[in-house]
Amino acid sequence: MNGPDKQHIMNTYARYDLTLVSGEGCRVTDDRGGTYLDFGAGIAVSALGHGHPRLAEALAEQAKKLIHISNLYWNAPQAELARKLAENSGLDRVFFCNSGAEAVEGAMKLARRFGGARGRFEIIAMENSFHGRTFGAITATGQKKYQKGLEPLLPGVKHAVFNDIDSLRAAITPQTAAVLLEPIQGESGIRPAGREYLAQVARLCGDEGILFIADEVQCGCGRTGALFACQNYGVYPDVIVTAKGLAGGVPMGAILAREEVASAWGPGDHASTFGGGPLAAAAANVVIDELTGGVMENVRANGAYLMKKLVSISEKYPVVKEIRGMGFMLGMELDAPAREVVSRCMERGLLLIGAGERVLRFTPPLVAGAAEIDECAGILSGVLEAL
Ligand SMILES: Cc1ncc(COP(=O)(O)O)c(C=O)c1O
Repeated sequence: MNGPDKQHIMNTYARYDLTLVSGEGCRVTDDRGGTYLDFGAGIAVSALGHGHPRLAEALAEQAKKLIHISNLYWNAPQAELARKLAENSGLDRVFFCNSGAEAVEGAMKLARRFGGARGRFEIIAMENSFHGRTFGAITATGQKKYQKGLEPLLPGVKHAVFNDIDSLRAAITPQTAAVLLEPIQGESGIRPAGREYLAQVARLCGDEGILFIADEVQCGCGRTGALFACQNYGVYPDVIVTAKGLAGGVPMGAILAREEVASAWGPGDHASTFGGGPLAAAAANVVIDELTGGVMENVRANGAYLMKKLVSISEKYPVVKEIRGMGFMLGMELDAPAREVVSRCMERGLLLIGAGERVLRFTPPLVAGAAEIDECAGILSGVLEAL
């Protein structure tokens, strides 16, 4: 983008020199008419891809009826969405908000409210985690680089080593209210929890009367081929937070909780002006219907196909160290800076994102098919060949 307008935007993002103006399916178009295969999906957000006809129509129809009413009144799309999320998660109640960080922040508040009556206030999060940029969420984030200059952070939050049950066991005290973790760590480099580890976390939390909160902001909403990543592991947290793909790109976050936990909140205890508004809820209802109506099957089938293609690339190019992840949330660890490869892929018409310094992240729209995966693999191979 040229011109003076952008000088009024705060300088908080290391943006690429690319202005996107439209999209269809897994493809986006820039302001010079260039097209790109979008395998980042706006950082794991655009679940149904771009310009999805049913999603666009639902938004247009709802916009003509009501965009916003506040939570002083009921709106039917919100209640319908809460029912669908409850039915598909096994949890009972939902609080709606507008972003991942807001959902994490709310879940931390809920854990303190629930545990407070029993003198429990501590929250144990994981090293190398990412939970968002609000004060509670950034305190839970186990990466110092995000916390620099913000001290003092929220008291009562500590960190254990991810995928190490002994480290978690050692961190627990009689004051521990909750364990907060990402079933698949996203921002730090697509690192899935081990099967046995996650089962042990759930068991330990259950035995100790500690809430198990899964941050599924990035790995939830169908991205791993199940509506929530924990379902792939057969574990059932007390609380799940999600956002990103939930409303297909319209801002929305959610906190899902068991009845007993949710009942720690009564009227006035938590709120969000825009949370669960009719417009975002109408979009999310379409997303959930599409996910449960066949899109998650696509993720399972084509996620396995993408994994196979990436593994075969890794066998050809020694710069690739490891392939990790599940469904359409895959990471390729490189022995080189990821940003350099991302830039070169962009020059050849493929949008990817990094995760940490040396991991390429593959989070395509959940509707991506074999032809698009072949195209992505072709471009990436060309870039690695020329590296
Ligand atoms: C696991 C996880 N939690 C929370 C967040 C914060 O979400 P948001 O950027 O919507 O506040 C993110 C964002 O990347 C995330 O990956």
